[in-house]
Amino acid sequence: MDKGVTKAALVWSGKLSTGVPALDQQHQAIFRCLSELEKAVGDKTMLSTIHAMEQLRSYTHEHFAEEERLMALVGYPDIDTHIVAHRDFRRRLFELRRTYLDHDISAELILMLRDWLARHIAGTDMEYVPYLAAIPRISARAGSCQYA
Ligand SMILES: [Fe+2]
Repeated sequence: MDKGVTKAALVWSGKLSTGVPALDQQHQAIFRCLSELEKAVGDKTMLSTIHAMEQLRSYTHEHFAEEERLMALVGYPDIDTHIVAHRDFRRRLFELRRTYLDHDISAELILMLRDWLARHIAGTDMEYVPYLAAIPRISARAGSCQYA
């Protein structure tokens, strides 16, 4: 499902809610991670960019694992497709990091990550929402992208 992606910054809204507070908090943290990365790339500060990419890698890794755990817990039927999508993002981010070691990366490449996340959260993630409704309370896990 494609709800349209613009060049505007990713902003979390209630429309993106999974109904699971822990996952919503993680999605918001991922948006903050991405925002930090965009800022670092815009400022052309190498250390900050590497740090921000590592934060995004680490946090999405943690978050995807949590989503996959919950989807397995409720027997979500499309879990395999969803896991493949997560793997695709990890591959894109890995390639971006590798590219950055040799070349400057452009805002367009960051936009690609942002588009991916926006489409994934607004589309693919929303498809598991009815299944996760079976879980009344899931405790939030602390994340590493809590800075604004
Ligand atoms: Fe997901």
